[in-house]
Amino acid sequence: MERKKKIVIITGASSGLGQEFAFQLDRIFCNLDEIWLIARRKERLVELSKLLDIQAKIIAMDVTKEQDMLSFKKILETENVSVHMLINCAGYGLMGRFDAIDIEEQLGMVEVNCKALTRLTYDCIPYMCRNGRIIQLASSAAFVPQQNFAIYAASKSYVLSFSRALREELKGKGIWVTAVCPGPVETEFFETAEKYGSTLAVKKLAMVSPQKVVREALSDSYKRKAVSVCSFPMKAFRILTKTVPHGVILNFMGFFH
Ligand SMILES: NC(=O)c1ccc[n+]([C@@H]2O[C@H](COP(=O)([O-])OP(=O)(O)OC[C@H]3O[C@@H](n4cnc5c(N)ncnc54)[C@H](OP(=O)(O)O)[C@@H]3O)[C@@H](O)[C@H]2O)c1
Repeated sequence: MERKKKIVIITGASSGLGQEFAFQLDRIFCNLDEIWLIARRKERLVELSKLLDIQAKIIAMDVTKEQDMLSFKKILETENVSVHMLINCAGYGLMGRFDAIDIEEQLGMVEVNCKALTRLTYDCIPYMCRNGRIIQLASSAAFVPQQNFAIYAASKSYVLSFSRALREELKGKGIWVTAVCPGPVETEFFETAEKYGSTLAVKKLAMVSPQKVVREALSDSYKRKAVSVCSFPMKAFRILTKTVPHGVILNFMGFFH
């Protein structure tokens, strides 16, 4: 029987954290056959593939398009693959009041951050190998509701909750799920996020590099941790959201807004 190709799948690979996962995995993995790079901007994926030693498969697709998702499923079915890692990075946020932002753009966050991530995870699980890893990009925004970032924070709470439950379900199959919950990271994320509103200055003080987030996420994933929180301020924020009533935190944040 033909040997299965060992692969890693990364969504949102055209920039930021997805791109950084590709760089770091390229250095770490020595026995991987292919990295599958997914995003809409094909030219970016082509540029990235030229910088990698591991063979890259470029899948330019919009994860919100039914047809693209069906084509991806077909590719999975036809290629003889064993998925060692699925990393769901595709996502975006929009800051601003819920009633002041175009509803379709806001529903798009639910489509990409929640629905597409869920569908891709479902489609990949049958092809995952024992001791495989699923890394889901949530956010520290998942820890508590956030005014002026309401849908984004809610979408990331979904990712965190889903990932933790899925982890328990997949343990028996030897597949380990980690939700990554960074605070602000220096990527193109803010170009979209600040289209209608701006980030609180206090949040930007906690900005970290994508290199640091990805290094910690991979290390936590190998340690089979359920949640990866990279910097000290975000670890402290997480403890705060577990100990202080969320109403109090929301009132306090209202003061800054
Ligand atoms: N940066 C932060 O401060 C931060 C903090 C916490 C969590 N996160 C989360 O981390 C993840 C990665 O964000 P990032 O910081 O790396 O942002 P980024 O640089 O803006 O990257 C977002 C990626 O998502 C892809 N994407 C967006 N919509 C898509 C669609 N419909 N179909 C396919 N791909 C799509 C983009 O590719 P194309 O545009 O080429 O399609 C891009 O590669 C996101 O889930 C984000 O919510 C980010």
